[in-house]
Amino acid sequence: MLPFLRPDLANLKAYQPHPPIPEPYDQLDTNESPIDLPADVKASLANHYQQSIAANRYPDGGHGALKQAIAGYVSESAGGATAANISVGNGSDELIRSLLIATAINNGAILVASPTFSMYGILAQTLGVQVIDVGRTDDFCINLDIAQTAIENNSVRVVFMVHPNSPTANGLNMGEIEWLRQLPNDVLVVIDEAYFEFSQHTLVADSLSRSNWVVLRTFSKAFRLAAHRVGYAVAQPDLIEALEKVRLPYNLPSFSQAAALTALAHRTSLLATLETTVKERQQMATWLSEQPAITPWPSAANFIYCRLSNKGIAQLGMEQAEGLHHIFSTLRQQGTLIRYTGGGLRISLGTPEENDRTRANLQTVIG
Ligand SMILES: Cc1ncc(COP(=O)(O)O)c(C=O)c1O
Repeated sequence: MLPFLRPDLANLKAYQPHPPIPEPYDQLDTNESPIDLPADVKASLANHYQQSIAANRYPDGGHGALKQAIAGYVSESAGGATAANISVGNGSDELIRSLLIATAINNGAILVASPTFSMYGILAQTLGVQVIDVGRTDDFCINLDIAQTAIENNSVRVVFMVHPNSPTANGLNMGEIEWLRQLPNDVLVVIDEAYFEFSQHTLVADSLSRSNWVVLRTFSKAFRLAAHRVGYAVAQPDLIEALEKVRLPYNLPSFSQAAALTALAHRTSLLATLETTVKERQQMATWLSEQPAITPWPSAANFIYCRLSNKGIAQLGMEQAEGLHHIFSTLRQQGTLIRYTGGGLRISLGTPEENDRTRANLQTVIG
């Protein structure tokens, strides 16, 4: 270990994105859209680069036009958002880190409920922030008694919730939402709506009306812009100002800002594919529920979470973890990448052809 490094870094591992994937793998492990931008939208973006982006100039560090356009989109689900309610990040990952910098470093802990999005914990650890994990019940709800006790016994500054959750795909229920609403105003409630477009349920009205709430969203999923790394936060102006203070000055390249603006301008046609995703979700959920070896959970997102049933464990003659790993690696050999996480398998929905192949490959292991 280099002598000038923080000793606690020795316990951390660099985030492992999957290695370059040889064609023709079906990439159903990162919840992206399976469909690239349409050629005419890409062409208009390329044209914009050619005509209007000066490569020698820094990007718009205030994200003025983009904030305005995002506020318009957000207002479609909860009226009244303005540019002053929006902060833009290099992916919502950057906003998670900015939130931790603005709230918890040297100032308290964060609360998460696993299985959930791993970056809250990973980023907190890199910043030396304590993570309190209250876990979930068998149906992936939050045990509110345990969570309440954790809040009372620790100096929790932030509660991170995904709505709907990744990897388990369930949205927050009314009891959980009411519990979050009654938290004291010295605890920040972060609602990560990365999969909002698939669930069509948002808590953005709370983030506009409550000083201790913020909603995070991303262009990486339904908007098909994962390559461009654009996320945004919706909150009251005081919190937005704090996020603006701690971020890097030119955090979002001009081309990414243009891509998000272009996607918003074409949102009706881009989001029309959600209908196919919802249909595919239904078909995959029905098929999985017909497999005696598998227990799937209902999904409000663009992925489905499942584990082995008791029958599946008996059929494979393996423990749950070993059996899931066996399925994961067999599918990988067959050309289908899914995610083995949080003690279950998370299968992103792909194109209809990819989903057919996933079912066929799964059939060879558990059929
Ligand atoms: C719940 C959740 N939040 C945030 C992100 C990160 O999104 P971005 O690509 O905007 O950094 C993801 C990505 O998988 C996610 O699942």
